[in-house]
Amino acid sequence: MQNFHLTRRAVLAGLGATALSARAGFADPAPIPLTAQRALAQIAPEGYPQTEVWSYDGRLPGPELRLAQGTRLQRRFVNSLEVPSSVHWHGIRIENAMDGVAGLTQEAVAPGASFDYDFVAPDAGTYWYHAHTHSMEQVARGLSGALIVQERDAPDVDRDEVLMFNDWLLDPQTAQIAPDFSHPMDLSHGGRFGNLIGTNGRFALTLRAKRHERLRLRLINAANARIFVLRLTGLSGWQVALDGMPLPAPEPVAQEIVLAPAQRIDLIVDVTAEGQEAAIERLGNDAQWSRQVGVQITGAASRSRRAPPAALPPNPKMDRPDLAQARPLEMKIEGGAMGRMPMSRMRGLMQSGKFWTLGGQAGPVDPPFARLFLGEPVRLRMVNDTAFPHAMHLHGMHFREVLEGERFGPMRDTLLTEAGASHEIAFTADNPGKWLLHCHMLAHAAAGMTSWIEVS
Ligand code: C2O
Ligand code: CU
Repeated sequence: MQNFHLTRRAVLAGLGATALSARAGFADPAPIPLTAQRALAQIAPEGYPQTEVWSYDGRLPGPELRLAQGTRLQRRFVNSLEVPSSVHWHGIRIENAMDGVAGLTQEAVAPGASFDYDFVAPDAGTYWYHAHTHSMEQVARGLSGALIVQERDAPDVDRDEVLMFNDWLLDPQTAQIAPDFSHPMDLSHGGRFGNLIGTNGRFALTLRAKRHERLRLRLINAANARIFVLRLTGLSGWQVALDGMPLPAPEPVAQEIVLAPAQRIDLIVDVTAEGQEAAIERLGNDAQWSRQVGVQITGAASRSRRAPPAALPPNPKMDRPDLAQARPLEMKIEGGAMGRMPMSRMRGLMQSGKFWTLGGQAGPVDPPFARLFLGEPVRLRMVNDTAFPHAMHLHGMHFREVLEGERFGPMRDTLLTEAGASHEIAFTADNPGKWLLHCHMLAHAAAGMTSWIEVS
């Protein structure tokens, strides 16, 4: 990775981690460290100063972690920041104790301490990892990275590229991250939006490809609040997976690709541009610094594939929950600016720094929103009675949207609910433990849109 330099503190912390691993080496070989540390990164356009970020291993985004489906990921998370932290593996069907939610599945890892994450990744696909302690601030400061679980039979493509879309709220002169993480405007409206759009930690990213090449693009939205709307030019092809989970059949890429916070979309596209350039354009012009992701075309591939790609191999558990037997639940999403929550209730909430409720509660609170029996099918109606969209994420289990006529939508772990809309999701509660259900607009999650369920 270019564009970053380790700070002295980070280097010292790294040495500390090495010493730690050597000591632990008596029994098992110590897991590879993944270290949260300060670093400098050139996020802003050239000519601006570097930005101090919180990083994993001094990189922005964090190192791309790749493993084969069904194999183990073992990482010693070393916290070299001055604040507690923890790592969540977003979208992985994981053992509860490894889910990384401070205060729910583990204690936050204190500064200078470490925690060993160790889990098997049962499903192939595009996932990501990010801080889950004060995530609104920690993710906005840079603590996220891609987690790729590779299929045993990978599709036939020439390149496999991860594109992590993010935005950064930077001071326009100093290019440093705006440090106010409790602004009532962010908390009560759409969330914290950046003024610089970046991809893979950079302002201007250009991929290289040959004409007629076939690419797999793994799009990840790591932003705090921004819904990216993307359009391909000079590239055409298919959408093959959502939130890691393969679609039953490849579908032509939509004119406008909507990627809500925390969502992922896998595309398989052919380079069809006649000229020298193709692009992944971002629609909307609401950031001070924004540039499309360019694809520079250098020559032509010797062969071109015309046939559409096959579907990705299905993951082991892509069942359809039994709707007839499913327990019905309803969760109202309320609050925020311009909503219908009575002012008297809103005032009460605001006294505790909250603006939103899920199922009537500004969470996280005890008891859980629901206690489910292991193996129980559930249908959950989420009613967005607010003036904003919300990206609702369930930990530990993927779900399907229940569409008109009781048809099932694709499997997802994060669903975008538009203002005023109501969506029903269904899943089988087959993973025991305490699982968060929250909005991935992280300012909303911090301001009350955090709930949880317990499966036992
Ligand atoms: Cu991406 Cu609660 O997480
Ligand atoms: Cu929200």
